[in-house]
Amino acid sequence: MANVAVIGAQWGDEGKGKIVDWLAERADMVVRFQGGHNAGHTLVVGENVYKLSLLPSGIVRGTPSVIGNGVVLDPWHLKSEVEKLRGQGVDVTPATLKIADTCPLILPFHRDLDALREDASGAGKIGTTRRGIGPAYEDKVGRRAIRVCDLAHLDDLGPQLDRLCAHHDALRAGFGEPPVDRAALVAELKDIAGFVLPFAAPVWRDLAEARSRGRRILFEGAQGVLLDIDHGTYPFVTSSNTVAGTAAAGSGMGPSAVGFVLGIAKAYTTRVGSGPFPTEQDNAIGERLGTRGHEFGTVTGRKRRCGWLDAVLLRQSAAVSGITGIALTKIDVLDGLDEVAICTGYRLRGEMLDYYPANAADQAAVEPVYETMPGWQETTAGARSWAELPAQAIKYIRRIEELIQCPVALVSTSPQRDDTILVRDPFAD
Ligand code: GDP
Ligand code: IMO
Ligand code: MG
Repeated sequence: MANVAVIGAQWGDEGKGKIVDWLAERADMVVRFQGGHNAGHTLVVGENVYKLSLLPSGIVRGTPSVIGNGVVLDPWHLKSEVEKLRGQGVDVTPATLKIADTCPLILPFHRDLDALREDASGAGKIGTTRRGIGPAYEDKVGRRAIRVCDLAHLDDLGPQLDRLCAHHDALRAGFGEPPVDRAALVAELKDIAGFVLPFAAPVWRDLAEARSRGRRILFEGAQGVLLDIDHGTYPFVTSSNTVAGTAAAGSGMGPSAVGFVLGIAKAYTTRVGSGPFPTEQDNAIGERLGTRGHEFGTVTGRKRRCGWLDAVLLRQSAAVSGITGIALTKIDVLDGLDEVAICTGYRLRGEMLDYYPANAADQAAVEPVYETMPGWQETTAGARSWAELPAQAIKYIRRIEELIQCPVALVSTSPQRDDTILVRDPFAD
């Protein structure tokens, strides 16, 4: 019986939340291991819509949930998200949610810096969520971060706080901003500490115990492989490793704890924010995909860019992340098209490429080479079995499997929890 890591195989928003919620029914624990509240995971259960950014999606079913050390945590956001969910009738208590005491905190000046840099970047802006994710990870790697465990010792922060603030004061001065008000920061932290600390725990111990008892652990990734700091479309990426390997390090487990890697991929492609996107359709097709797929960002409300499925990028994501099987989502959005296209290779300055090059100028210059297939006029929306899919939709799925050299394990046919086709059970592997 495998543990399962769910990761985005494209540029995020593939439908990870829906799939994690669906799988959480059979999981004993759900663990977030990277990213922060830049994520926006939508769960639709009947009439109820839940939008989670920081909390693991398992919390909605009441599955014990963990925020691992690889996550950067904005304590004020945590409070507002917990309160919002409680308002929707979801029980969030220290019994159902545990937060690694080693999580670095996102502080108000991280948010400021994220926005100041974006505003100063003109055409080069990354299009971040402006939530301070990048600056918080910088301080983690720079060994300056304040962490969840420090909230219990706020009067002893002394030299640690001095070092952190000195770094930020210099950066802020460059933007003409006043230095960090340390007394106000400590007061704000004291104010929020009482909310956060009851959830804080050495979660690696709970995970080790769960593992030794043979419990099923579901790891929930945020963002997607193409936004990975190493493997994505650098520099237009997020500041964490989004690949499945991070599930272990970002939760405090060894690599053998991760069994089945379920890569979530839309049946087409979207991207929010700047950066290259070879199969982008800045035309009527893109508009149609965006309208039918309701492609607006969960976190920022920005319109997502839309295009055809890119099998070259998906094959690459599957390879660098060790994807065992794909959950193909939003196939219903393609219903009614006369023709569907899949990118099968790139042309770069006259040469053919079967992978995505690393250099940013090359990434921007590649021209996609497409294969087209007839579409289907029947509806796939709401299908819950393979037999309900039109023949042409099945051919499309089979062709994707061939091109990306990876089998499809699940197909999702609507935002609703149960409109899901199970082809191969990830937990059974
Ligand atoms: P995540 O960030 O990967 O969790 O994805 P988001 O929640 O940001 O975006 C996915 C959107 O697609 C959400 O609004 C989901 O409710 C919706 N969705 C998920 N699966 C399907 C599907 O199979 N069909 C359709 N039409 N919508 C879906
Ligand atoms: P989920 O988990 C889609 C994008 C931002 C920007 C880049 C860097 O919902 O799939 P950041 O704020 O992380 O420094 O922004 O990454 N981005 C996402 N795009 N889905 C997400 O999360 C994203 N999280 C960050 O738009 O281009
Ligand atoms: Mg999202």
